[in-house]
Amino acid sequence: MPKSDQWTSKLGFILAAAGSAIGLGAIWKLPYVAGTSGGGAFFLIFLIFTIFLGLPLLLTEFTIGRKTQHEAITAYRMLAPGTPWYWIGRLGVATSFLLLSFYSVVGGWIVIYLYRSLTEGLAGRGAPEFEALFGETISSPLLAVGAHLVFMIMTILVVQGGVQKGIERFSKIMMPALFVLFLIIVIRSVTLPGAMEGVSFFLMPDFSSVTGEVILYALGQAFFSLSLGVSIMVTYSSYLKSTESLPKSAVSITGLTIFISILAGLAIFPAVFSFGLEPAEGPPLLFIVLPTVFSELPLGGLFFIAFMALLLFATLTSAFSLLEMVVASVTKNDPAKRKKAAWICGLLIFVMGIPSALSYGAMENVLIFGNTVFDGLDFLVSNVMLPLGALLIAVFAPLKIKKDELYEEMQRGSTMRRTIFNIWFVLVKYVTPVAIVLAFINMLVSDV
Ligand code: PFF
Repeated sequence: MPKSDQWTSKLGFILAAAGSAIGLGAIWKLPYVAGTSGGGAFFLIFLIFTIFLGLPLLLTEFTIGRKTQHEAITAYRMLAPGTPWYWIGRLGVATSFLLLSFYSVVGGWIVIYLYRSLTEGLAGRGAPEFEALFGETISSPLLAVGAHLVFMIMTILVVQGGVQKGIERFSKIMMPALFVLFLIIVIRSVTLPGAMEGVSFFLMPDFSSVTGEVILYALGQAFFSLSLGVSIMVTYSSYLKSTESLPKSAVSITGLTIFISILAGLAIFPAVFSFGLEPAEGPPLLFIVLPTVFSELPLGGLFFIAFMALLLFATLTSAFSLLEMVVASVTKNDPAKRKKAAWICGLLIFVMGIPSALSYGAMENVLIFGNTVFDGLDFLVSNVMLPLGALLIAVFAPLKIKKDELYEEMQRGSTMRRTIFNIWFVLVKYVTPVAIVLAFINMLVSDV
């Protein structure tokens, strides 16, 4: 079994793992789900889940990956030979496959917006025009499917190049630029007239809107944002040498994700209220609000182009990780098979995503359990498969790896204190499984 390629630098790994984490989850999904789930209370529950469940689980996935130095399925096989635990890896591959199929559809929307922003600009339009424009754009079957294909091909092109060359090179420049641009939008958004109403919608919890569903959504969102439950972070950290500090990496990635989530909320909600839009707009929210904010900025057209380009990049770095997960499991890191596998898997994912791409147009009336294909897949992946994967990983690690070995691996390259390790252990072994199971039960009970 060939060993994984290794990252050329510590920064490369952190940026790539952060690149996987930061993407549509924090920037597009969190604001729209918060918008439909009551705002501040949802965000607070999401933060609690991210810190107490997400962060420890991220460290768990890192530890499994670096300890075994192999992609996920092989990693589970090595740690629990002769048992079915490697199905966690298979579940992760299936989840990545489904997730990327609709993720890429939204990637396609960004491609369309980038193209439009380059050719048409923003001038002279307000919120209602942008709302209509979004509807028009994504309801065209040719555009929606075509853009989804373009996005998928971009993803395939990077993954076929291999881990270091492909992923690392891009991440170093683009992520910091995204932060800077986001700050500019936040400043514009919170200084719009009537913006404070949006700030308090996002930051002041109102628990009257919290239902079983909202709690499960917040849980799903926490795993989605950190790319957890899919074993992608197992695969990524298998490319890592033993000298990096896993706890530090986990803390910085979680911190960055939370930071960008706050920026996204502060960019979107003040503007939503200022322009008299609906926070519960759903998936189109970002695509209606942002152009409107940019049209209020001097040189807004140029900033909008830059923002769309960076958002496309952030989305691509997450998409790479999803395709990488599928490709690494198919090729078992055999470089000779990588290129072919990237194309075959990528194109299959594209086909799988076509009904999602049509969910806002030709197939908007095709409903599964009352949801469009797009929303149904998102629900299945985010709120069932990711929490299930996370639950299995949280049960697996303390059960199948000796406590001392876990501590030893986490200590490599770091100076993690035993107390911190013990807190991690309790959070992963007891708190996480109980919280996930309760969230599922609570959702089922409160739904009846
Ligand atoms: N974390 C990514 C985002 O927030 O956009 C999405 C994602 C990537 C989820 C990879 C899960 C995953 F395994």
